[in-house]
Amino acid sequence: MKFLGIDVGSSSVKVALLDGATGKALAQGFHPKSEMPMEAKEAGWAEQHPQMWWESLLAALSALKEQASLEDVSAIGISYQMHGLVAVDAQQQPVRPSIIWCDSRAVEIGESAFQAIGEETSLSQLLNSPGNFTASKLAWVKANEPELYSNIAKIMLPGDYIAMRLTGEISTTATGLSEGILWDFRDRTVSKDVMGHYAFDDALIPEIRPTIGEQCKILPEMAAELGINPNAIISYRAGDQPNNALSLNVLEPGEIATTAGTSAVVYGVANHNCYDTGQRVNTFLHVNDTNEQPRNGILLCVNGSGILYSWLKNLLGLGYEEMNNHAAEAPIGADGVSFYPFGNGAERVLVNKNPMASLWNINFNLHDDRHVIRAAKEGIVFAMNYGVEVFKEMKIPVEIMRAGYANLFQSPLFREAFVNTTGAPLELYETDGAVGAARAAGIGVGHWSTKEAFGGLEKIEVIEPQPELQTQYQEAYAHWKQGLDRILKF
Ligand code: XUL
Repeated sequence: MKFLGIDVGSSSVKVALLDGATGKALAQGFHPKSEMPMEAKEAGWAEQHPQMWWESLLAALSALKEQASLEDVSAIGISYQMHGLVAVDAQQQPVRPSIIWCDSRAVEIGESAFQAIGEETSLSQLLNSPGNFTASKLAWVKANEPELYSNIAKIMLPGDYIAMRLTGEISTTATGLSEGILWDFRDRTVSKDVMGHYAFDDALIPEIRPTIGEQCKILPEMAAELGINPNAIISYRAGDQPNNALSLNVLEPGEIATTAGTSAVVYGVANHNCYDTGQRVNTFLHVNDTNEQPRNGILLCVNGSGILYSWLKNLLGLGYEEMNNHAAEAPIGADGVSFYPFGNGAERVLVNKNPMASLWNINFNLHDDRHVIRAAKEGIVFAMNYGVEVFKEMKIPVEIMRAGYANLFQSPLFREAFVNTTGAPLELYETDGAVGAARAAGIGVGHWSTKEAFGGLEKIEVIEPQPELQTQYQEAYAHWKQGLDRILKF
């Protein structure tokens, strides 16, 4: 028995095939090798066509099939970039490209909804402002593209679209609806306040299926095309951040996951309905939430993480290894150079302000690429720490964090900056979102209990903060924060 994990990110689609007997990955792949583009027709916009995700998935699966057969795949798990709006017509065709998570066009719409629904109702029932999330993005389409809007039969999230293509069925999950700010945490149903405020027809919302559990069955013709067992079902679907947490076995209060892919995220778990009054971090349903045992994910997102680093790589024409080596030659704090990674849309941690990325304090006679690269890595860590301070305000303990050995967490310097700035030890694991989604697919069909599924999760290393480095990173962070105050006042 095998399980297939699919992770639809912003820059690529990753796939993993897991052996049900050993819990180990038999094959892994991703597509494209270069990055999937985000289209920005206007400043602050970001769109991707769902067809591009689908074609990338097909290409990633063909590469996977060269390594191992997919014939015994009995269940599929899907992880996906969160909050994106996919709207399809009655023939299941997208009516427009997806307006993805980091597109900022709906900030004002969401802010007016927050005021109209009322801050108290929003915070106590939605645990969030409607903000710049999926419901507000749909309201933008309704106001600005009324003809397209009138053709919409159903709306969904990116992972729901992939599930629709595989099974022909349109469905979503409660966790997915919470990402869109379409979920009422108090009444545990689709939010009447948000649906009513935006005057959305209830028929637009797909049927809700369990996040972990039987969702829908693959279409026979799709199974034949992909070479997958025709009895395979989708048994798990979640946003990439709750899925990263699940991949790291972060399911209970006190456990914290982090990641630094296109965006950088810190994700904690709570067993009660809590929210940030300042709306700098958000609360969504976690993958293991049930009526009997509520579980929420508290999510801090910095939009510009890996995307800043790859932008810099292209600008400097260096490889990642060279960049790591160069950065290590500059001292902690990059001799006063600060990098602000805010060039990928409205930043929730800055209450949806969009100050754009900036470099601060460059002296032409002192600084070179080594300082700039180091400042970029430190700037991403500092922006994450700025949000970790909110977790502390919310009394969400940040004691030990877990990360997969992927993206920026592959860089020793990034890890050093991270543990010494946050003060929390970091456990590094050999896993990624596609492997995690495959594990969850096995849980979803009852092949494994959660405990058994994570028996095979391999811890690579624990990185502890060092007091002498902590002092230096804390000083550099204080300097970075001073610069941030200037930028925000500008
Ligand atoms: C999380 C978020 C991003 C995307 C990236 O809230 O918006 O991390 O999920 O895919």
